[in-house]
Amino acid sequence: MMEQSFVMMKPDVAQRRLLGKILTRFEEKGLQLVAMKLLQIDESLAKEHYGEHAEKPFFNDLVSYITSSPSLAMVIKGDDAISLIRKIVGATNPKEADLGTIRGDFAMDMGRNVIHASDAPESAKREIALFFDDDEICDYQMVDDSWIY
Ligand code: PPS
Repeated sequence: MMEQSFVMMKPDVAQRRLLGKILTRFEEKGLQLVAMKLLQIDESLAKEHYGEHAEKPFFNDLVSYITSSPSLAMVIKGDDAISLIRKIVGATNPKEADLGTIRGDFAMDMGRNVIHASDAPESAKREIALFFDDDEICDYQMVDDSWIY
């Protein structure tokens, strides 16, 4: 089933000049970038995005991290994209993430785990709407989508 997921490279990725390298992981798999924006997330947007974790002990650290420097927000589309992207991203704790996943290969620290990806269709819808207006999403067709992924 064709799905759109919200994916965000967190501040450490731009700081480490890894944006292109990590984006390539999704494109090489056959997923399609349909929206992208580099933005400085403010405290209010960070708190809204991570609102469900407001009572967690790590919440303040998470908000400080996300607002520390620009993040790259994206909408990525593909067949079963939401669960596929979570596999490509790897476990939340980079020390537990398999090598070959983005977090397994590029991160060491739970508090700097490089990337966020929606965990379900409902959260993807909510997160995409939080970061993008409808007219910022270029949901174009591939020239031949019978086999080019
Ligand atoms: S929980 O408690 O299982 O619901 O939380 P979890 O799904 O593991 O994490 C929710 C998001 O919080 C981030 N997180 C942290 N950030 C900074 N420091 C610490 N210690 C920390 N622990 C969890 C985690 O990466 C999740 O954010 P996203 O952006 O979805 O990865």
